[in-house]
Amino acid sequence: MTCKHPAGAACAAIILGLAAGAWAAKPAGEPWRDPNLSPDQRADLLLRHMSLDEQIALLHGHFPVLMKTLPAGVIRSAGWIPGQPGFGIPAIQESDASLGVANAGRGDTDDAAPLPSGLALAATFDPKLAFAGGAMIGREARQKGFNVMLAGGANLARDPRNGRNFEYLGEDPLLGGLMDAAAIRGLQSNHIVTTAKHYALNDQETARGSLSADIGEAAMRESDLLEFEIAIKQGRPGSVMCSYNRLNGTYACENPLLLTDVLKRDWGYKGWVMSDWGAVHSLDSVAAGLDQESGQEADRQVFFDAPLKAAVKDGKVPAARVRDMAHRVLRSLFAEGVIDHPLAPGGLDTRADSAAAGRVAEQAIVLLKNSSGVLPLAAGAGRIAVIGGHADVGVISGGGSSQVIPVGSVKFPSPKGAPSWGGGVIYHPSSPLKAIQARAKGQVAYADGSDPAAAATLAKDADVAIVFATQWATEAMDIRLQLDDQQDALIEAVAAANPHTIVVLETGGPVAMPWLDKVQGVLEAWYPGAEGGEAIARALYGEVDPSGRLPVTFPTGEDQLPRPELPGYKAAAPEGPTMTQGAPLQVHYDEGSDVGYRWFAAKGIKPLFPFGYGLSYTDFRYGGLKAAGGTGLSVSFTLTNTGARAGIETPQLYLAKGPHRSQQRLLAFARVALKPGESRQVILAADPLLLADWDAAHHRWKRDAGRYELFVGRSAEDPALQGRATLTAATMAP
Ligand code: BGC
Repeated sequence: MTCKHPAGAACAAIILGLAAGAWAAKPAGEPWRDPNLSPDQRADLLLRHMSLDEQIALLHGHFPVLMKTLPAGVIRSAGWIPGQPGFGIPAIQESDASLGVANAGRGDTDDAAPLPSGLALAATFDPKLAFAGGAMIGREARQKGFNVMLAGGANLARDPRNGRNFEYLGEDPLLGGLMDAAAIRGLQSNHIVTTAKHYALNDQETARGSLSADIGEAAMRESDLLEFEIAIKQGRPGSVMCSYNRLNGTYACENPLLLTDVLKRDWGYKGWVMSDWGAVHSLDSVAAGLDQESGQEADRQVFFDAPLKAAVKDGKVPAARVRDMAHRVLRSLFAEGVIDHPLAPGGLDTRADSAAAGRVAEQAIVLLKNSSGVLPLAAGAGRIAVIGGHADVGVISGGGSSQVIPVGSVKFPSPKGAPSWGGGVIYHPSSPLKAIQARAKGQVAYADGSDPAAAATLAKDADVAIVFATQWATEAMDIRLQLDDQQDALIEAVAAANPHTIVVLETGGPVAMPWLDKVQGVLEAWYPGAEGGEAIARALYGEVDPSGRLPVTFPTGEDQLPRPELPGYKAAAPEGPTMTQGAPLQVHYDEGSDVGYRWFAAKGIKPLFPFGYGLSYTDFRYGGLKAAGGTGLSVSFTLTNTGARAGIETPQLYLAKGPHRSQQRLLAFARVALKPGESRQVILAADPLLLADWDAAHHRWKRDAGRYELFVGRSAEDPALQGRATLTAATMAP
């Protein structure tokens, strides 16, 4: 006998309560509503009342963007799963949100505040800012009617040309993992769920729906998976999204090693795994560990509805597995308060939120070059020529599902061959030109840069020339290291006309700088978001110390990379969210876990700018290193601001050599604000996993006993202080 909801709820509770012998004291009839119970207990109690159909209804979602008719109340967005009001389960309304509440084609603009790009956030090396940014997005999400966010991108920047690197957090698993964990915690502080994605090895966009990332177990555990491990264990996202690509031949969304063995068993992950949109290929994914089919309109067929039910009836999928899938969804909804705190949209204050985004942007800007003290600009710096980059309009942003389009944004046509979604290159409405004009006492003139000769003429008569160079990146397409649209030639022309040329880059990742020797200043501003123009001006005028540090290595060119030619780049067509299979492509990640600066160190190659690098308007002195070993490694040292201005330094602790081999790894970092002349003792403790290797034979992390050589410095290539410590052997369960 079963009692159907809502009328029969009390009846079912009584029957089941008698059987369980423990329900008498619970809230009348619906014991799963008791907030004193654990999320697991609540999910279990609720599931006792749910039929197979009701469970399955939680396991597949719509893609409102592709729905022929939108049911009343459903927001056009990435995802929607109908609610089950009788059980108190709200509709799940999903939005992309890596960098703000994304637009998903809700008209030309949409009231939402865009954060700077993920790479910009990572450049702050500041988990507190990541938390604040996440909290801001989560708050807006609730205010706009969303309760599950598709934020938390944590793919390692294994290739600097990955078109989605701007959504992610750089090339280092510790930095990226800690920043992602903080962002996830911030997002989920709003009684919503967020999603770590795209799990895993989705490290390039070209052929993303078909390529196989081929890599050994230890190598992936020590690199891409380590970033997820840190992000997931410390951030506890309610869901994890599996990616489009294959891993060693098997689709990520039907990969038992990734989903079940590593994520759920080794890391003890209790939330649910959702698919990327269009990434489900068969029901095999159920046994592999996928719990929910997202955006079903994007798949070849809907697998997690009638076919799943039929598979249960035929005994091919155990009913207990379906229950486990539904349990995971409900557990996260309970754990994050989605069920206990229903959405009450309203109260959006994008002005305040934009200011919060601006605070991230100004901490994210990296000063790459500053010769002859060209920066900071003096308030009365004379005539300034501002050139290019649509600096009169705003700041560029990245395209794809993460695109945020705040009110006032301006759209330019996207380049030929780019994916059609979004329909253009969006500039966020914060004009660097206007922000410079507001500060400059002298004359400021603008040339759009389309005519290098005209720009050079303008620059020639100016005291300082500032060239804005942009690089657009988008989901479903990779990028080159070269700036396009002849921007290199523009910079060369301006630099030839004016020796005091400063380049401000707004890029989705590293770019080559053939003109570097000819300019005096370079600032990397990434995609700086809602108040980007203002943040750039603040950095140019020294109202803030440029305290960003590179979260990715800038190579001199593609020949320095493990794969000088991006696999499939010429052959593959850009793929949109509805995946076609494409020709299978295998990418061998032979560099293993030597990603980014580790690769440069292992090969002894000198990049253009190393990981961790960034100048300041003041100077810092490092001294008095003491290293302590034993069962863990920590260092202390004294950091002094020796300059005349306040500044923020980001000391980084690196392993240089283990007991048996050279092996560079970031072990710890901090952000230290110092007034002029101020000294501080800094203590950095190494993350134990970064000192260990994955021991595949014994399925554990293993640290050998012996001598570990380390250094503390301002970048991966700046061993300001060197030391060593002797450590005992240790093993750690995964
Ligand atoms: C992207 C995901 C995104 C999803 C829904 C996919 O194309 O890879 O990151 O969450 O679309 O918009």
